Amino acid sequence: MIQFQNLNKNQPYTILKDKYNEALNAGQSVIEAISISSYNKQLNEVDSRFVNLKFIINDEFIFFSNYNSPKSKAFDSHSQICALIYWPAINMQIRMKANIKRTSEEFNQEYFRNRSKEKNALAISSKQSEKIVSYEEITKNYEITQKKVDLSTCPNYWGGFSFTPYYFEFWEGHELRVNKRLVYKKINKKWEKSIIQP
Ligand SMILES: Cc1cc2nc3c(=O)[nH]c(=O)nc-3n(C[C@H](O)[C@H](O)[C@H](O)COP(=O)(O)O)c2cc1C
Repeated sequence: MIQFQNLNKNQPYTILKDKYNEALNAGQSVIEAISISSYNKQLNEVDSRFVNLKFIINDEFIFFSNYNSPKSKAFDSHSQICALIYWPAINMQIRMKANIKRTSEEFNQEYFRNRSKEKNALAISSKQSEKIVSYEEITKNYEITQKKVDLSTCPNYWGGFSFTPYYFEFWEGHELRVNKRLVYKKINKKWEKSIIQP
């Protein structure tokens, strides 16, 4: 589930919320999964991965991850990203473009304090995406962390990422391929709406 707080009243956001409710009512599972594509300037490489979108606060999309991970390094080197949602239950794709930044230390601590200790132990113990000799070592590290470490304090290498899209495309699949595509582009702080061909 995505938590919507003080949602922005402008049209791309109201459409997003309506489509979210529609997908939820249609039984969409894993509704919070969102693909984030990044570009690492140093490696000259594009990459994508799914994350769980936890909040939309006003116009900010927020997910959490490891600040030493490959994705984080890519965001540091090039802040522009693409985000992608697909909800098969209503055949809806939502494409977004944005610049990404880290959330504040206070926000991370507050969020971490209220998460389950099991999840926190994994966030603390994992050097995300680094090589390890065996799966057993991961479970061993996890168990040691659960016993020995303060599981309420967010480590400085973990926290939120926030992005505010400047571009949305809502793609709605229809029979006979007459798909609807609605685009919103933010120009001079205003949303410009257009319909594009399938
Ligand atoms: C549905 C789904 C949700 C995921 N949610 C997260 C998440 O919220 N945060 C996270 O760090 N990784 C999440 N992952 C794992 C990432 O896809 C990825 O494997 C990991 O973050 C390492 O990515 P990186 O090497 O590009 O940094 C999720 C994977 C899937 C399939």
